[in-house]
Amino acid sequence: MANKPPLTGKFPLTRMRRNRNDDWGRRLVSETRVSVDDLVWPLFVIEGTNVSEPVKSMPGVERLSIDHIVKAAGVAVDLGIPAVAIFPNTDPKLKTPDAVEAFNPDNLVCRTVRAIKEAHPGLGVICDVALDPYNADGHDGIVRGDKVLNDETVEALCRQAIVQAKAGCDIIAPSDMMDGRIKAIREALDTDGFQDVRILSYAAKYASAYYGPFRDAVGSGGVLKGDKKTYQMDPANSNEALREVAMDIAEGADMIMVKPGMPYLDIIGRIKNTFAMPTFAYQVSGEYAMIHAAAANGWLDLDGAMMESIIAFKRAGADAVFTYFAPVIAKKLNDKK
Ligand code: PBG
Repeated sequence: MANKPPLTGKFPLTRMRRNRNDDWGRRLVSETRVSVDDLVWPLFVIEGTNVSEPVKSMPGVERLSIDHIVKAAGVAVDLGIPAVAIFPNTDPKLKTPDAVEAFNPDNLVCRTVRAIKEAHPGLGVICDVALDPYNADGHDGIVRGDKVLNDETVEALCRQAIVQAKAGCDIIAPSDMMDGRIKAIREALDTDGFQDVRILSYAAKYASAYYGPFRDAVGSGGVLKGDKKTYQMDPANSNEALREVAMDIAEGADMIMVKPGMPYLDIIGRIKNTFAMPTFAYQVSGEYAMIHAAAANGWLDLDGAMMESIIAFKRAGADAVFTYFAPVIAKKLNDKK
């Protein structure tokens, strides 16, 4: 990543535009590249067969039944996308105050993981760990009174991580922001023989307005009571993100996530510079929706805005990006070759 540049010269001896004069010259001095290897494709799974339901607020994104998810996984493999991330739209009847569906070994996520791994064993599969898809009140943790309980939630998260690992998940991605969950999940995985299952910690996850379309996609928005500010971070804070990351590294995280993405490029940069860890960014649903909405109005060029957003993540220091644009970007990059 960029060091502080030395003062290089003075006009007219130095003309910065010389290096921008032609396409080949610009390519030679280009500092950042995006590759298909940098992409993770988030997928929404729903019960049923042959179901593909458009998510209204996310043009081009659909909730897919397992048979279609397996096909999408095949598309990811063909495009060279290294991994997919699975998010369930859980039947509202299965949502309870104790979120027990989270650790049902035959829940929608576990069945999806098994189906993908059977068809495409070489594709990385990432599972979210958090209780919101299964919780009657839409929170990531167990709620009692007006409190989201920490330690009780961590126990549930460990059980959730174990059923996902048993189903064949490669990377467990806790997005719940409870304290101490990385160590607890690491120990639970190790005890059950899953030493090689990785943990991608959503270490710096902010209480953001940009998750709206996602909650629509998984059906948790309508049920959410209140907000997530007692566990997700305050958008005003940056030092706190470093403390979160330091703790999660000490607890055994293999990779770090910053979320949302574009409004938090400074956080990505600081984390990468401070810890030199594999650092991922999540270009969340609201960011995707904004670009599409502006493009649909003719106010932005979709391709241009999409590619610029991804290069910005890489320039900030992200090693990989979770993005709903993943297949479109991958196709574009592959077509260029
Ligand atoms: C839930 C979770 C959320 C997202 C990923 N996992 C939403 C939330 O915290 O409410 C958001 C992803 C997106 O907006 O694309 N733990």
